[in-house]
Amino acid sequence: MKKILIIDACMRKEDSRTALLCKKAVETLKELHPDWTFERVALADLPLRYLDKDSLTERDALLAEKRYDHPRFDLAHQFQEADGMIVAAPFWDLSFPAALKVYIENVSVDGLTFYCDEQGLHGKCRAAWMLHLSTRGGLWDEETRQDEHYLRALCGFFGVGAYHVVAAEGIDIVGLDHEKILKDALSETEKVCRTLA
Ligand SMILES: Cc1cc2nc3c(=O)[nH]c(=O)nc-3n(C[C@H](O)[C@H](O)[C@H](O)COP(=O)(O)O)c2cc1C
Repeated sequence: MKKILIIDACMRKEDSRTALLCKKAVETLKELHPDWTFERVALADLPLRYLDKDSLTERDALLAEKRYDHPRFDLAHQFQEADGMIVAAPFWDLSFPAALKVYIENVSVDGLTFYCDEQGLHGKCRAAWMLHLSTRGGLWDEETRQDEHYLRALCGFFGVGAYHVVAAEGIDIVGLDHEKILKDALSETEKVCRTLA
């Protein structure tokens, strides 16, 4: 039985088109793997705090005492223990919503999701894959898609086995067929999900 973590950064909630890709992914995976379990963190509803001087000081003190059971590390434990991850995040400002960056700050915990030794930094996460789902208003070349670069690099950092991305692009461009763009992305999502184990 595998545990899949859905990191939902669809800030427009029920109006989100990215959420439709996520729904398709979950439906497909549930159908293919009835024994898998799914947990969702809805970032739009979480009272997440970005790191500042006080919270960094508190975190350093807790880590120095190896107090990994402190509630502020609950999200990091959940992240570390997932066997697969779906990140649903609309393309905002050439990247993704700030709530997702704040979530990453919260799960990036030395000793839990990564560790360092004389050889450098090593991932500690169990996940075999991350599936990144997005919709983009415009059309952007590979170099400009900062969300993809960053999440792919994070997979390396946390030790997540593989990075996959499906994005519906140009979904706000007047004159393009938005329904077809979304339909194609939904098919692609289903196709990629069939490869995940
Ligand atoms: C705050 C904000 C920032 C955005 N920034 C970009 C951007 O940099 N490039 C782009 O192509 N579209 C941008 N868009 C458009 C979204 O990528 C597009 O509407 C997307 O489909 C929204 O996803 P959703 O329907 O899941 O909320 C932005 C939209 C919002 C609300």
